[in-house]
Amino acid sequence: MLGQHLLAFTSLFAVLAGGQSLLTVLEDNGFTEYAALIRGDPFLEAASDLIVYAPTNAALVANNGSLTRRATDEDLKKTRARFGAVNRSAPRPQEPPTRSPPVVNGTRRVRHRDELVPSGSAFVTLLDDPEFVNLGPGINQSIVEKRAVSSELPVVFAGLGAAVRVMGDDIPFDKGVIRPTNGLPTLPQTASKTLRFLGIDRFLDALNQTGLLAELDAQKGPITILAPDDNAFKNRTFTHDQLTALVKQHILVDYFAYTPLLRNGQVYPTLGGGQVVVSVDTKGAVYLGGAPILAGDAIITNGAIHTIGKVLGAPASPPPPVTGGANSMMVQSWMTLAVSAVGIMVAAGYFT
Ligand SMILES: *[C@@H]1O[C@H](CO)[C@@H](O)[C@H](O)[C@H]1NC(C)=O
Ligand SMILES: *[C@@H]1O[C@H](CO)[C@@H](O)[C@H](O)[C@H]1NC(C)=O
Ligand SMILES: *[C@@H]1O[C@H](CO)[C@@H](O)[C@H](O)[C@H]1NC(C)=O
Ligand SMILES: *[C@@H]1O[C@H](CO)[C@@H](O)[C@H](O)[C@H]1NC(C)=O
Ligand SMILES: *[C@@H]1O[C@H](CO)[C@@H](O)[C@H](O)[C@H]1NC(C)=O
Ligand SMILES: *[C@@H]1O[C@H](CO)[C@@H](O)[C@H](O)[C@H]1NC(C)=O
Repeated sequence: MLGQHLLAFTSLFAVLAGGQSLLTVLEDNGFTEYAALIRGDPFLEAASDLIVYAPTNAALVANNGSLTRRATDEDLKKTRARFGAVNRSAPRPQEPPTRSPPVVNGTRRVRHRDELVPSGSAFVTLLDDPEFVNLGPGINQSIVEKRAVSSELPVVFAGLGAAVRVMGDDIPFDKGVIRPTNGLPTLPQTASKTLRFLGIDRFLDALNQTGLLAELDAQKGPITILAPDDNAFKNRTFTHDQLTALVKQHILVDYFAYTPLLRNGQVYPTLGGGQVVVSVDTKGAVYLGGAPILAGDAIITNGAIHTIGKVLGAPASPPPPVTGGANSMMVQSWMTLAVSAVGIMVAAGYFT
């Protein structure tokens, strides 16, 4: 797969590059601001088999804001740089069990991996700061790289659903590759901050009403929240127990579920004790329990949030009338946010 190609590519070019160090290659290629930022970081000494997402000088200067409580801007940037350094030797996450493919007219449907599997990778980074990662002891934060079209340069998804773009080809150094970007990745936040930022207010309020929200923010991952957007999560009348059961059905537990890991027929356990089955149609569009993914891979401290276009297991009742312009306004503002973060553009083109 992609990882293996890169590995072959890297070892070939590492020889040609004559084993020059990361800092030397960064400086020779004009990434002087980024080189200055990471100089002296101990991760560099131990590092091998890395992908380093390195912002250009212009991008790094412009890219200094975030919702965090780091003491200084410099401190924050160093932490973000750790998040943008991928350890390719780190163990891959375990896959959930898979159901047998459906039988179509007596013959098992053949799975064409290349057609049906989204093109991308979930990578383990060097971010281990407990303020930004809560995936279990010794498990660093992940970042998700995806391509809208296989010929295009990838986009890297990080915290708050924000993404940075890869701007050019890999530049090899002695222990990996530098992948030029248009910014540092945004650090992951809790589920509640991320849902609010994404404008998924109704589902967030439902989580809060059930009393699950605080628990969810603190819980050790991996968890993946399938968050129906405000348009899908229309107001309904529920008892407390019904609402609790409903929201728990939207929380995948035990396995990582970043979109590049999703495969047709996988069965993810939910917090409610049920299951969500992954299906991939012949065009490569991915559904979770029958719901389409509108925007995937907003990284949170303990996993990820995928915005979905349907409430899972919703009773088949006619949708309530859209009153005023409230619903479309909400979707509009959410889309604007996502577009500013590149998210929706990629999500839209990605599975088609
Ligand atoms: C990458 O992961 C491997 C396997 O867990 C570990 O031995 C190695 O130290 C890690 N490398 C870096 C640079 O953190
Ligand atoms: C962050 O970037 C903005 C825009 O480039 C700049 O005006 C501001 O001074 C920077 N802040 C710090 C603390 O460097
Ligand atoms: C399965 O068989 C039915 C009846 O013979 C046929 O109409 C249908 O097109 C077949 N489906 C596929 C996928 O071959
Ligand atoms: C996690 O991050 C720390 C700090 O950067 C690093 O030392 C460690 O090797 C990383 N672990 C893996 C598995 O990459
Ligand atoms: C629908 O939900 C929203 C957000 O939770 C709330 O502000 C609004 O009052 C609700 N509308 C009705 C008719 O219940
Ligand atoms: C959850 O509900 C409480 C009580 O209504 C409120 O104070 C709090 O701000 C809500 N939290 C979020 C993240 O909306």
